[in-house]
Amino acid sequence: MQDKYDSMITGLGFAVPEKILTNADLEKIVDTTEEWIRTRTGMSERHVADENTATSDLSTEAAKKALAEAKLDAKDLDVIIVATVTPDTPFPSTGCYVQKNLGAVNAAAFDISAACSGFLYGLTMADNLIKSGAYKNILVIGAETLTKITDWTDRSTCVLFGDGAGAAVVQPSDGESGIIKTLIKSDGRLTDLLIMPGGGSRIPATHESIDQRLHYIKMEGQDVFKHAVKAMGGAAVDTLKAAGITSKELTLMIPHQANVRIIQATAKRIKLPMEQVYINVDKYGNTSAASIPIALTEAKEKGILKKGDYCLLVSFGGGFTIGAVLFKY
Ligand code: UT7
Repeated sequence: MQDKYDSMITGLGFAVPEKILTNADLEKIVDTTEEWIRTRTGMSERHVADENTATSDLSTEAAKKALAEAKLDAKDLDVIIVATVTPDTPFPSTGCYVQKNLGAVNAAAFDISAACSGFLYGLTMADNLIKSGAYKNILVIGAETLTKITDWTDRSTCVLFGDGAGAAVVQPSDGESGIIKTLIKSDGRLTDLLIMPGGGSRIPATHESIDQRLHYIKMEGQDVFKHAVKAMGGAAVDTLKAAGITSKELTLMIPHQANVRIIQATAKRIKLPMEQVYINVDKYGNTSAASIPIALTEAKEKGILKKGDYCLLVSFGGGFTIGAVLFKY
């Protein structure tokens, strides 16, 4: 295994809104059952932001925890990257709101749009910015308030999503721990499978676009499922291969939390026992870019992710986007 690293994660944190929506609550909103949601997705409940909470609020809360663990003053941040498809405003970026909230006056702040793979795109950028030698202290956040773009009349999507944020401070490696391999890829031929059609330059907001419910998430669930299984498994295999290791040397996999069946298929593809896979989709639903940093922080807080462990993060999302990051914690 590689023993020279450029960057490492030095702080983690996450935040979710207080309000919880259970499967039983959803039975009262759309024609669904607790059992259908649980058996088809693995989800039991999810957190929902109130009307006063935006993506930058959850991001800021998560970021403060990550900075505290890294013992880093916000003023020393060089870069803030927020991965989100639910920014506070189309512009300025959510990164700039977070910068203001933290008082990170010396940072360059911006957003990246890579849906559920956004956090891994962010980690990849952070690793390479540090590798360049020009930047040292980088905050990578994955954050979403997906329930704000959820169509509560569409049972095929509204049961799936939740809100939250997770943050990681990435700094130069101490030589003992660090990022080993990163992989990011996209397939723009599949843009239509998972999309919010309205609100951009193609379909700006009009009374008609609102009447046609174009400002909500639309998803071809089954197609997404098939591509996700292939993409997540492929990314996991390719990343282990690029690092020259097998899953036997892996301590833990933390996959994007969209559906427990997709996660099981990914673990099977790399022959990793499910005991070595972190799952919390039951508690948070699919929080898109936030799902991996929330799970990563939880795994660390529970002592499941320990110093010296080899951990694989893997994701897929709308775009299609694919990401994987292998690191030694
Ligand atoms: O991170 C973003 C990427 N997104 C994903 O990873 C999602 C990937 N897709 C999935 O996870 C699954 O496709 C879903 C969970 C969305 C759906 O599960 P499925 O096993 O693929 O179900 P389906 O779409 O094939 O629907 C099966 C049946 C249909 O009824 P009929 O036609 O068989 O009578 C649906 O109308 O289930 C019905 N159905 C529901 N029934 C109760 C769809 N949604 C619901 C619901 N409650 N909420």
